[in-house]
Amino acid sequence: MKTNILLIVALLTIGLTNCTPKKQETAVQVQPWWKEAVIYQIYPRSFKDSDGDGVGDLKGIISELDYIKSLGVDAVWLNPIYTSPNADNGYDVSDYRGIQPEFGTMADFDQLLAEMHKRGIRLIMDMVVNHSSDEHEWFKQSRSSRTNPYRNYYHWWPAEKGTPPYRYSLFDEKGDAWQYDSLTNAYYLHYFADKQPDLNWENPKVRQEVYDIMKFWAEKGVDGFRLDAFQFVAKDTAFPKFPDGFEKNFMKYYAMQGNLHEYLKEMNREVLSKYNLMSVAEGAGNSFEDAHNLVDEDRQELNMAYAFDGVDIPKRTGYDLLHLKDVFSRWDSAFAQKGWISIFLANHDQARMVNRYATDAPQFREAAAKMLNTFILSMRGTPYCYYGDELGMTNIGFEKIEQYQDIASINGYKKVLNEGGDVAAYMADLKFGSRDNGRTPMQWNSSPQAGFTTGTPWLYVNPNYLEINVAKQDKDPDSVLNHFRQMTRLRKENPALIYGAYQLLQREHPQVYAYTRTHEGSRLLVLHNFSDREASISLPEAMSAKQILINNYSTNFPEGQEVRLKPYQSVIYKMK
Ligand code: NOJ
Repeated sequence: MKTNILLIVALLTIGLTNCTPKKQETAVQVQPWWKEAVIYQIYPRSFKDSDGDGVGDLKGIISELDYIKSLGVDAVWLNPIYTSPNADNGYDVSDYRGIQPEFGTMADFDQLLAEMHKRGIRLIMDMVVNHSSDEHEWFKQSRSSRTNPYRNYYHWWPAEKGTPPYRYSLFDEKGDAWQYDSLTNAYYLHYFADKQPDLNWENPKVRQEVYDIMKFWAEKGVDGFRLDAFQFVAKDTAFPKFPDGFEKNFMKYYAMQGNLHEYLKEMNREVLSKYNLMSVAEGAGNSFEDAHNLVDEDRQELNMAYAFDGVDIPKRTGYDLLHLKDVFSRWDSAFAQKGWISIFLANHDQARMVNRYATDAPQFREAAAKMLNTFILSMRGTPYCYYGDELGMTNIGFEKIEQYQDIASINGYKKVLNEGGDVAAYMADLKFGSRDNGRTPMQWNSSPQAGFTTGTPWLYVNPNYLEINVAKQDKDPDSVLNHFRQMTRLRKENPALIYGAYQLLQREHPQVYAYTRTHEGSRLLVLHNFSDREASISLPEAMSAKQILINNYSTNFPEGQEVRLKPYQSVIYKMK
């Protein structure tokens, strides 16, 4: 019976597309899956260890797929799992078709993908191709001689031309992106660490190699790619001198240069469109125009990009609510008619969102975590939730440099020392803002090491795991975890939360972030008190408690036109 109905629908659809004029076809537009999806990001080293070596692995993820499904998410973005010497935890790939042995085998990967698909969860792989590892065979060949066929896979500057024009490196301990290599008396370029030489995208062979790698994974059935640092790939290989001090605003000189859009169109033609893959770029350039140029459908480049404006907040003073409202509102309005954005407050390059946008003070932590999850799941765009944020995991706040594992933190420390900078200030910044804060092992239960591993974890487990863990929260209907699940359900049930027009209310309110979402006759009112004090706000019309769809407090159901919100309270009302 079901098959017959499907057949009839299919025949009707074929009939419709064959005889309906083009203009009307667009009226029955089917939305792509990734617009309605909630994406869950997994940092594989830290998610679940199945073999006791202290490092998370693919089998560990497989064992928790039912948990992932229970969150109501639709896709997983997996940070890199390819073979890597691990200078930057997998963002330095030495074999793009291999699995990092610590993470398992290709058979484990195949099983992971099959088990995910069985559960209706899609998989997005991280494609790290601005640079490879210096231990990749291409680089080994490239550096071996100036005439090697792989020489032009990377950017080399012969030393007889003098010192190359200064390029800033994000991870280098001297901040210098040119590394001298005596073997061929030349410098190679590395925007990140010296173990991450930049690939030469101007070389068509490099591009074909990358497309072949993407096809390899597409043939296996992956559903999309996140393109790491992609806005940096195109470069002016004449390497002109940049103005002194350019590094303070390096994005202007590094992002969206040269032929980037041509390369994306080529990648789209050769891979993305052929396999119907979802694509999201890390970084959205320097302007809304740049971002549109990446993602507008008619340009046939990418589906989404994620911009950093919302997460680029000062380390010590923290964020400013009015600024946050402006950033999210501006991005929303720039994409109101065309294109699509990603919504996120955290990822593996940030400290935990509870610390950055609220507080981990025990009396507020749960409400704050629920509020932030309500926020990312009630905005227009595709929400990305970082593992552990569904529990409200917090910063670990290391005190000593020896506790850190992240190359960015460690080399940054050496740089401050080299420059005779303020080490104490640097350590205070790290304590609040380091990437390791967001990479501590997932807190599964109250057994030793939070149930993450039976061995010694690669990074310290946050001691608050006895308080914050999956097992405990799973049982508690009022937990952060169950609120997250409730919220993903609500988003699915209310297209207004996905597609609804967003309108900011009371921009100047110093504590409350309020907005409406309106779609096809339905209007929702969303209120978040981003402060640790009660807040009053006057609403466009009186609301009754019966109109509340979700509330992160079980003790306060604000009613009337003047409502009072508890600290970090978040409420969504159905206005109509
Ligand atoms: C951006 C990634 O998100 C980050 O983790 C990595 O260190 C750099 N790109 C270099 O690949």
